[in-house]
Amino acid sequence: MKLVDSISRMATLARMYKKEGKSIGFVPTMGALHEGHLSLVRTAKKHTDVVVISIFVNPIQFGETEDLDKYPRDIKRDEELARTAGADIIFYPPVSQMYTDGYSTYVFVEGLTDTLCGASRPGHFKGVATVVTKLFGIVKPDIAYFGQKDAQQAIVIKKMVEDLNVGIEIKVLPIVREEDGLAMSSRNAYLSEEERRDATVLYRSLEKAEGMTKHGEKDPKKIIKAVTEMITEVPGAKIDYVSIVDTKSLKNVDKISQEVLIAIAVYIGKTRLIDNIMVKPVPEAHSARKGLAV
Ligand code: PAF
Repeated sequence: MKLVDSISRMATLARMYKKEGKSIGFVPTMGALHEGHLSLVRTAKKHTDVVVISIFVNPIQFGETEDLDKYPRDIKRDEELARTAGADIIFYPPVSQMYTDGYSTYVFVEGLTDTLCGASRPGHFKGVATVVTKLFGIVKPDIAYFGQKDAQQAIVIKKMVEDLNVGIEIKVLPIVREEDGLAMSSRNAYLSEEERRDATVLYRSLEKAEGMTKHGEKDPKKIIKAVTEMITEVPGAKIDYVSIVDTKSLKNVDKISQEVLIAIAVYIGKTRLIDNIMVKPVPEAHSARKGLAV
């Protein structure tokens, strides 16, 4: 595995692989790797010749009051995990190379970025779309892999790639969960023992929402109310949002009549965690036959 900390070296290697006819799989990360990231690397390894994982804590996607400075960084540990998962290159450019003095170009995806996480983290997706565009330009992947946990991020990236004719295939892989259902996240490392227990309410509340839809509930307000009540019962939890939205436009839906994204963001103590599930409504005839509420 190669460790590459210079943009020009990474770009040279990418050109070389292209010349040799090798396909490049790319997993962009901010490090503090966990099983969620590693599952992306393993999948990339199955489908592409060379797997590049980037580790770059991108300052422009953090708000002023957010956790940029304390974001977990442990390159030695990440190196070992990436190597074991099968990465061929770790690309970890310094901030000074990615954002040189006078840097002034940004990518802004309209419409999808002012809702859900974008509403409470203004500028976040502009930072994400910008850095991913830059990384794509340097690494030149054929396929890039993202996790479904950051559902809105994946939708924003897909739109950016489509709108700008970037010509890279985007694959979104399922959320990897701990045994008790907590979605894996680098930010889980911030949780105390008690908070870690409280954090299970995110997935439990999504399971409740899924159960309601499976039993024929099609009113998003009722599901949001049930999820909200469940989370509110946990003293250490504070809701940022609970939303049921269209899977493409991310707009709130009035009725669950096709597949929807149920997305939540919850503060557990000071740590903001996100999670989501996609659910499909049961067909009307099926719920009526079973005598279930529709
Ligand atoms: O999901 C992340 O870790 C980051 O948002 C990403 C895609 C690496 C961009 O900095």
